Amino acid sequence: MDFNLKADKAEFIQLLQSTGRDGVDDLIEYLEDGRNHFFTAPASVNHHLNSDGGLLRHSLNVCHAALKLRELVIAERPDLEPDLNKDSVIIASLLHDICKADIYVPTRKKKRDANGLMVEVDTYNVDYRNFPMGHGEKSAIMALWGGLDITQEELLAIRWHMTAWDLPFQSVEAGKNINTARDLHPLCSLVQLADGIAANLFEHDGADTNY
Ligand SMILES: [Fe+2]
Ligand SMILES: [Fe+2]
Repeated sequence: MDFNLKADKAEFIQLLQSTGRDGVDDLIEYLEDGRNHFFTAPASVNHHLNSDGGLLRHSLNVCHAALKLRELVIAERPDLEPDLNKDSVIIASLLHDICKADIYVPTRKKKRDANGLMVEVDTYNVDYRNFPMGHGEKSAIMALWGGLDITQEELLAIRWHMTAWDLPFQSVEAGKNINTARDLHPLCSLVQLADGIAANLFEHDGADTNY
């Protein structure tokens, strides 16, 4: 998938600023401060959008999917419109994966090419030492640390965006929390669905079989 880092960054900032929420500018600064390199990080090492700017592109893809899904849902269920505030959809979808801003370290590794020859390629190591907190919960904390005035439902949509893929199955409490959050806040389901649509369909290239 082709993407333009500069244009993507401008769109990300414009979308966040369009919410008029307090702390947006502080958060943007935080996302590229210190060890955080949100705007140039990949979305993964071996799977979707595994190159510089991939995380930013993925975040926009999720936001685009979420905004379209919001319209679809409201067309069928107008009574849900108050639960799917547009600004909340933008904030939760753009920030759901900011936990990845500090984990990818560029490196070069040897790999076999299509002809079986060993070549050096640019790739990343994954290093969780900066803040080993988890995934959705880490994104939620980072949004707060970044200074954004963020609501409880936005935090919950970010926290539980991975659906059951990120659940410790021995924890009854975690299962009850994710179900309760989803039942209380339709925004949780919307962001979960948008993340799946972006990663599995918008970003699908048919060659991602390196599991
Ligand atoms: Fe995620
Ligand atoms: Fe994601």
